[in-house]
Amino acid sequence: MDIYQAFENRQTIRDFEQINGTPRMIDAALVTKLIKAGFTAPTNDHLRDWHFVLLNDLDQRTQLISEVISPISIKRSENIINRWGLTDPIQRAMYLEGIPRQFSMLNDCGCLLLPFYRQDLPLLQPKNLSALNYFVSIWLCIENIFNAAAAEGIQGVVRIPAPEESRIVKTRLNIPSNYEFPCWIALGYPAPGATRARQVAIDLETRIHQNQW
Ligand SMILES: Cc1cc2nc3c(=O)[nH]c(=O)nc-3n(C[C@H](O)[C@H](O)[C@H](O)COP(=O)(O)O)c2cc1C
Repeated sequence: MDIYQAFENRQTIRDFEQINGTPRMIDAALVTKLIKAGFTAPTNDHLRDWHFVLLNDLDQRTQLISEVISPISIKRSENIINRWGLTDPIQRAMYLEGIPRQFSMLNDCGCLLLPFYRQDLPLLQPKNLSALNYFVSIWLCIENIFNAAAAEGIQGVVRIPAPEESRIVKTRLNIPSNYEFPCWIALGYPAPGATRARQVAIDLETRIHQNQW
């Protein structure tokens, strides 16, 4: 597939295809291919010290997710969105769709991928932009994975872990202490009729500035 077509195809999906009540899993060789695409991303120190834990044992997956995430009702999601003061209707619709699915999207996906990257400096006390380079690099890798997945007819979503969630995940999965957990990556085949959030229309004319803003 043309790379621009893959960019166009990528869209966040939180409802994944199930077969007889269990997720349609992504073939292991294809998962490796997607991660290989991830490893072609540019990187700050040339070392690509990135690791991935595939959490595809469904019992183990459910046990870990249940320990760190509680399902949130639509009503409570609405309260959260109101508390945040969001007013844009397209943005509100996205959050109203997304917040109640944080548990199910991880549980029901066709491959649950947990990336880890080496972060020797404290991530949350950066002294300059360069201190964030390791974090930036793993996100470039993650973006490659999503675009490669889109080229294969696979979509998904990321979830940013809360601090305690991250600590528990790292402990349960034996992650070395100098590796950080930037996000969960849930990938899979979209369920029939899976919701795709309406995109906010961007007029590039207003975003591209010649010589000065
Ligand atoms: C840095 C980042 C953090 C995100 N965090 C979450 C998250 O915690 N939970 C979730 O369901 N989606 C999350 N998303 C997905 C966004 O909601 C989604 O990408 C956005 O609404 C744009 O929609 P699109 O991906 O379909 O274009 C995140 C995306 C990014 C890039």
